[in-house]
Amino acid sequence: MMINNNLAYRINITKQEDEFWTSNQRKMHPIHYTISYRASFKPELPEFFIRRYLNDKTKVVMDPFSGRGTTIIQANLMGYKAIHNDLSPVSYFIVKARQYIPEKEEFLNRLNQIDLKKNRKEPNLEEKERFYPFFHPDTYKELLNLREEYLNNPDDKILKYIMFIALSRLHGHSDGFFSVYSFPQFSVLPEAQKKNNLRRNIKIIYKDIKSRIIKKYLNDHKIEIPSEYKISNFNEYYQLDSQNLYMIPDNSVDLIITSPPFLDKVNYKQDNWLRAWFIGVEEELNDLALGIYNSLEEWKEFMKNSIKEMIRIIKPGGRIVIEVGEVKYKKNTIFLEDVIMDIINNYFNNVYVDEILINKQMFTKLSNCWKIENNIKGTNTNRCIVLKKYYHTYKINPVSFNKKIKLTRKLLNI
Ligand SMILES: C[S@@+](CC[C@H](N)C(=O)[O-])C[C@H]1O[C@@H](n2cnc3c(N)ncnc32)[C@H](O)[C@@H]1O
Repeated sequence: MMINNNLAYRINITKQEDEFWTSNQRKMHPIHYTISYRASFKPELPEFFIRRYLNDKTKVVMDPFSGRGTTIIQANLMGYKAIHNDLSPVSYFIVKARQYIPEKEEFLNRLNQIDLKKNRKEPNLEEKERFYPFFHPDTYKELLNLREEYLNNPDDKILKYIMFIALSRLHGHSDGFFSVYSFPQFSVLPEAQKKNNLRRNIKIIYKDIKSRIIKKYLNDHKIEIPSEYKISNFNEYYQLDSQNLYMIPDNSVDLIITSPPFLDKVNYKQDNWLRAWFIGVEEELNDLALGIYNSLEEWKEFMKNSIKEMIRIIKPGGRIVIEVGEVKYKKNTIFLEDVIMDIINNYFNNVYVDEILINKQMFTKLSNCWKIENNIKGTNTNRCIVLKKYYHTYKINPVSFNKKIKLTRKLLNI
């Protein structure tokens, strides 16, 4: 059944544009930036909304499309319990790994226990084809030794953090990475890497992984982790489809801050193949239906189902902040907050659109290299639509509803 109970509110909704948070880069705690992740938002975004809507540390913050965990980590840094959800096992790993952040001593002691130089049998041809475009054979051997240690001890939380730091160093474009010159935000395919090596005349040199892991750890822990972060002990971590968050009870979350996959802009599977291999979840990732939508209609259906779940788990009076972008679709620019607004107006009677905030700052999510024109394909603004759940489900009464619209129109003189 189509309903339209939000129209009265909709008339009042204006889009507020401002620089709500800074456009400066990397101003928040370094543990946010340890690992790059495609289409992540800046930590300033969840910080802004947590400050705006919460002032009591018993509240719970959640993100159903958590990615690299920007909302979760920021909530914990501010002393709030958080609930992570993302269908991707790579996302699960990189967020869960930061639940416990080891002290320098324990980190170094555990790392020293691993025999990274241990000899291994010669890789077969297929392996060489896959990994040698990225790594020197001795670097590859060290990676295999670290990986094996982790796969044999998946519950060792210090080792998990070591793996997390190593994962962040897997591929990228500076000497701090284990690979030859490559892209840091996503794993390119071996064929593409091979071509690039030829084109750039790249020599595959040995990169010692231990010194690079230590350097990265020290660099990202120059600023102390605040004691509030210990709340992360109470976090919950899920790997569910956002359309069915069955493990999260009704009315149990105070604030959701999230950004869904945008139409078909990012291929989360292909882009993460090397990372998924390293942490042993490649097959799991391949089996998932991870956010590629061929039409706006498909995306709307997906968002309708996901919003239904968000509304179910949010407490009455709680808010859902959905960050979306503008996308090019069939040669038109579509502001996705308008699409969300339509979904709310047409299908839901237990939330209303509270406000729409557009952060003015312009940015490009990826730089323009590897022949990817992201300025055109990607999103350029932070457009946040905020929904608020009614304390009581709004009963649809056509008479009073029409009266309400008439009154609003009269007030606004329209
Ligand atoms: C735009 S990213 C979120 C980035 C995040 N805000 C951050 O700062 O890192 C969208 C995320 O949605 C996840 N995703 C895609 N389809 C999903 C689904 N059906 N259920 C849950 N998560 C999904 C992807 O794995 C991806 O991590």
